[in-house]
Parts: sequence; structure tokens; C-alpha cells
Amino acid sequence: TKGAAMVTAVASRLQAQRKQIDKVLALFRLTQEQLVGIRNKMRVEFEYGLKKDTHPLATVKMLPTYVCGMPDGTEKGKFLALDLGGTNFRVLLVKIRSGRRSVRMYNKIFAIPLEIMQGTGEEVTAGRGFTLQGASLPSTPSSARPVRLLLSLSLQLFDHIVQCIADFLDYMGLKGAQLPLGFTFSFPCRQASIDKGTLIEWTKGFKATDCEGEDVVDMLREAIKRRNEFDLDIVAVVNDTVGTMMTCGYEDSNCEVGLIAGTGSNMCYMEEMRNIELVEGDEGKMCINTEWGGFGDNGCLDDIHTQYDKEVDEGSLNPGKQRYEKMTSGMYLGEIVRQILIDLTKQGLLFRGQISERLRTRGIFETKFLSQIESDRLALLQVRRILQQLGLDSTCEDSIVVKEVCGAVSRRAAQLYGAGLAAIVEKRREDQGLEHMRITVGVDGTLYKLHPHFSRILRETVKELAPQCDVMFMLSEDGSGKGAALITAVAKRLQQAQRE
Ligand code: GLC
Repeated sequence: TKGAAMVTAVASRLQAQRKQIDKVLALFRLTQEQLVGIRNKMRVEFEYGLKKDTHPLATVKMLPTYVCGMPDGTEKGKFLALDLGGTNFRVLLVKIRSGRRSVRMYNKIFAIPLEIMQGTGEEVTAGRGFTLQGASLPSTPSSARPVRLLLSLSLQLFDHIVQCIADFLDYMGLKGAQLPLGFTFSFPCRQASIDKGTLIEWTKGFKATDCEGEDVVDMLREAIKRRNEFDLDIVAVVNDTVGTMMTCGYEDSNCEVGLIAGTGSNMCYMEEMRNIELVEGDEGKMCINTEWGGFGDNGCLDDIHTQYDKEVDEGSLNPGKQRYEKMTSGMYLGEIVRQILIDLTKQGLLFRGQISERLRTRGIFETKFLSQIESDRLALLQVRRILQQLGLDSTCEDSIVVKEVCGAVSRRAAQLYGAGLAAIVEKRREDQGLEHMRITVGVDGTLYKLHPHFSRILRETVKELAPQCDVMFMLSEDGSGKGAALITAVAKRLQQAQRE
């Protein structure tokens, strides 16, 4: 009987623990009604962003991109493309052949040092043999006293980018070539034409503050001038969503939406000019970069924002900003998981109640680990092995709980994406007065491509929330590079046509 009592005690303790865990996981479960509500709110924010009066305060910025047409297959030539803002920084050479619609690409990945990316800044002393590569300094006092100054981060970042271009040109044997360049710059930019883009604010992992409010094309041109080694014709600055849409649009003219589910979260789509109050003219369509990552920054998602989301937000480079992005994208999902695991451990429900140093470390759960942990083919023993690699010593029960936590967080992300996407396809359908609409969505991003369940849940959610739309998903092969080149090619063609 003593044994039986012990078994009962253990069983009831396990039951109590299960209840506590379920309580946490329940915070991440969204009902159909909640998802419909989120879809409707997103729709309202789209309209705020598009209207002149409400635009200045809108959290979903709906930025005009000045990309008005899809490639028509006649584009050709050699282009350089830069891709900044995704998982890697890359320089690419893209060769487009007309007629056969074939594109060949060569690319090189470069690292951007953290101190440049996140603006820890580097205090340097000028006047002691330190050269600033032609940067315009406040006139140096004639006494030539050493001037302590903070070497501007924008200079550092763009000098670094130009250094990478130089390396690449060298590597490809293209030194001295004067190629047209498309710059995929995956951050919110206010554009007044296709080759102008003022950075509104950094998102994701960047924080070189003196770039905000500056034109990124100007900064790049000046850095090229400072180096004084080659000349490039910067034709277009492009968001990654737009590049993705364009790449897919090259093959499927029905592709009018571009979606990124990667490090960041964003969507673009083709909008009727008459609905874009910020741009003159009523004819035709223009691509709008929604910057939907900022959805919720006015508090409209507070009812589903959990304490874990708050902690992730507070520990980020941009607290209070990009709330939807922080609930949906690869850069943050692992952080949400980590916050939940810390809390469960504190409650004594995981890792024998011991919070290890590793678990306290920001960024240990990258998207690829989430994807691995959630893979159905993986035995629990393998989940334990992954956790072990991350420095987390788990029991078999621990690994079950960790897997459940990952599942709850990524499921919510996919559903939130689905609600946002349903909002745009429904809007497009209504705007065109259609009973039923078919549309293709071009998609890119590590979360969409690598995660075992994300894309399925996203598709299911869109189907439920936009039943009158037939949404086809098309994977983009390297939208950032190819798309930038295609947009550059189209822009070049239009420039020439205008001149003739
Ligand atoms: C962030 C950026 C956005 C980009 C997205 C995906 O949300 O603000 O411009 O498209 O990440 O990379």
C-alpha cells in the first residue's frame, strides 16, 4: 500500500505539472474567432497606411515602391545585385538572357562585423596617421591636434559594403566593368523613385543609427566615390519582398504578392494606383511594400501578446517596434521558445528546475534548430541530442515538453501569417469586384523553406480565412538577387525608352 500511495502521489504530481504546462501552451492557441479578428484588423491597418490623412501615424506603412510592371521577357544583360538584410550579405552577378527567360547567377557571401551592424561604434583618433578614406571630416584644426571622433557608422557600413563589391569584382575578373546595379535593401524605405530610398528605421539585427533618415543609394554612391576605384550605375533599390514577387512574376504573371518568412516578416503586393493616395496618378498598378512587421505597434494585438512576447520585445534592438514581426519571424521565434523554457524551468517543470548558463544566452535557438526539433521523423532521442548540442541537458520528458513548446510557437506564427495574407487577398478580390479570385504568392525565407509544418499551417489558415480566393504558393529561387536584377533590367529598359 505504501508503494501504491507513492505511485498515486507521483501520478498526481505529474498531472499537476501537466496542467501548468498546458496553461502556458494555451496562451499560444488562437481560436478561429481570434484569427478572423486579426485578419480584419490587418485590413484596417492597410487602409490607414494607404490614405494620406492616416498614413503618417500608420503602423503598417504601405510604402510605394515605384515598381509598376512585371518583366515581359525581353530583359537582358549583366547586372550586379547586392543583398543586405537577410540571413547573409551577398554580392551577385546576374546574367539575364531574353527569349528563353533564363537567368544565371554567381554570388559570394560576406560577413558584416557585429560592431558595424549593431552600432557599438568604434572610437578612433584622427590625426595620428589614421586615414578616413576621404570621408568629409569637420575641418581639422590647423594645430593638427588629434581629434577624437566617433567614426560614423554609416561610413563604416557602406565602406564595408563597397569593399565587398571590390572583392567580388576582383574575384569575378570584372574589375573596371561598369555594370548596372540593383540594391536589395530589406528594410523600410521611403521612396520617391525607383533609385531613391530613405531608410525610415532599422529592423531585425541592424542598428547603425546615423543611417536612419538618409538615402541609402546616396550613401552607397558616396562610398563608391570615396574608394575611387570603380564606377557603378545604381539603378534600383528594392525590398526583398518585391524581388521575390518579381522573380515569381517572371514565370507566373498571376503572381501579385511577395511574402518573406525568414529572419524578418513582410509582404508586398500590386495595388491599384487609384488607391495609393501618396502617389499622383490613377492609372495602372504599383507595388506596395506593406512593412506589416509593424502591425500591432499601436497596441491592437495586445490581447494575444503574452508575457514571453514582451520579454522578447524588451530584449530586442528595437523595443516596442515590429510586434507582429517579433511574433512571426525566424529571428524571434527561438527567443520566444527560450523565454518559455526559462519560465517553465523556474516553475520547476523542466531541466530539474536548473536554469543553465546556456539557457540564459540570447539567440541560442536559431530557426534551423526549431525546424529540426519539430521534424516528425526525429526520434525523441535525437531531440535530446539537439538540446545537448545547445548545451541543455534534458530528460526524455523534458524533450517532449520542448518539442511541444516549439510547436505552439511556430504554429501561432504560421497562423498569424495566414491571417495577414488572407487580409490582402480578400482586399484584392473585393477591389476587383470578383466573386472568386485566383492569385499566386511568391514566397521566400528560411522559416517557410526549412520548417516542417510552417508552410502547411499557413496555407490551411489562408484557406479558412479567405475561402473565396484560390491562393497558389510559389517558392522563389533567390528572389533577392534575381528579383533585384530583373527590376534593374526593367528600370533600365524604361529609362532608355524615355530617352529615345
Ligand atoms: C523586416 C524589414 C522588411 C523586410 C523583412 C524581411 O521586416 O523591415 O523590409 O522585408 O524584414 O526581410
